[in-house]
Amino acid sequence: MSSLVSWQERYEHSLLPVFGTPPVLVVRGLGCHVWDSEGRRLLDMQGGIAVNALGHAHPDLVSAIAEQAATLIHDSNLVASEPQIELAEALIRITGGDPATRVFFANSGTEANEAAFKLARRNAGSSGERRRILALEHSFHGRTMGSLAMTAKEVLRRPFEPMPAGVEFIPPTVEALDAAIGPDVAAVIAEPIRGEAGVLPLPEGFLAHARRVTDAVGALLIVDEVQTGMGRTGDWFAYQDSGIIPDAMTLAKGLAGGVPIGALVTFGRASSLLQRGDHGSTFGGNALATRAAGTVIRVIERDGLIDNVRKQSAALREEIPDAFGSLGAEVRGRGLMLGVRLNRPCTADIVSAGITHGLLLNATDASTLRLVPPLVFSDDDRAELIAGLRALVAEWEENHE
Ligand SMILES: Cc1ncc(COP(=O)(O)O)c(C=O)c1O
Repeated sequence: MSSLVSWQERYEHSLLPVFGTPPVLVVRGLGCHVWDSEGRRLLDMQGGIAVNALGHAHPDLVSAIAEQAATLIHDSNLVASEPQIELAEALIRITGGDPATRVFFANSGTEANEAAFKLARRNAGSSGERRRILALEHSFHGRTMGSLAMTAKEVLRRPFEPMPAGVEFIPPTVEALDAAIGPDVAAVIAEPIRGEAGVLPLPEGFLAHARRVTDAVGALLIVDEVQTGMGRTGDWFAYQDSGIIPDAMTLAKGLAGGVPIGALVTFGRASSLLQRGDHGSTFGGNALATRAAGTVIRVIERDGLIDNVRKQSAALREEIPDAFGSLGAEVRGRGLMLGVRLNRPCTADIVSAGITHGLLLNATDASTLRLVPPLVFSDDDRAELIAGLRALVAEWEENHE
């Protein structure tokens, strides 16, 4: 097409419209910033939607990927690779080092949850008595059929019915769980913080209660840490804050810092539920993706990024409400996974004004912004965010007097 045709038109004429037409064309990134095709420098508070854990173009990740690409990108799962085994060992170590822990590698969060769905089906019991899966209201587990079946939002599921059977949605309360649990439940699946729903944390004590009642009936407790995992909440994994060990955990997003990967981590008896031939993936666990993920874990540890997450989070919680002025921001979430609830439905305006003020923001609904920047988010980045927010809110207030 001619160069007079805009990139938006080319996008619309070549890509399915499932995301709508994006407002910016990003051409490169460095640290917590990206640059767009008009030369604008934007502070990336989306972080690839909680993916770019080390920021953009991190030198360790760039050199590890380049070296691995020149050595071995991919081979089949009929052979093994050193980066794959090393990553599985690292995940076992940072989840506590239990020798019964095992890992299955996939390519995305939805795929990690498909594997978890199959794990739940394999927990059906000797005569297939456990057929129900309990998921939570406002949950999001992905877009392929098994993970979609466990995703609460009806508008996402309905056009694609019939769903795989057996999934029920309950509110995340002790009472609702007690009422729904029974010997016919194969698994309970929960995000420690429901990110897509606007950064909604589980009520205090819910996971611990879920652990007790699932243990009592032989159901699996599966935590979806696709968004919360890999240091984002100020722990390696958000469930670690609740003192429980789940039967399984799913990971993706930040795991390889932007290279597609997903993982199902199983603990204890859950590690023997899926056997040879039960599941598979062509790309899952390939040398390039697992080398990238191994590098992400090493850099998070070496550079104390989990401490940085805690420090930046505490400062943002203090500074954000003031920066939003009359928009009355309430901050929720943990670590660098923060939801900012505004007192009116103006986030579409705020996100689009953000671009002219050098901020790449994300809204989960009309009143909620989600901040999920890279874990390398610095004091300078924070100062830039707060200054940018102040300027854009002042402008918004001026236009809405
Ligand atoms: C908690 C959770 N689970 C699963 C997914 C799906 O991951 P993916 O988009 O990599 O398939 C997401 C994506 O936002 C998520 O937030």
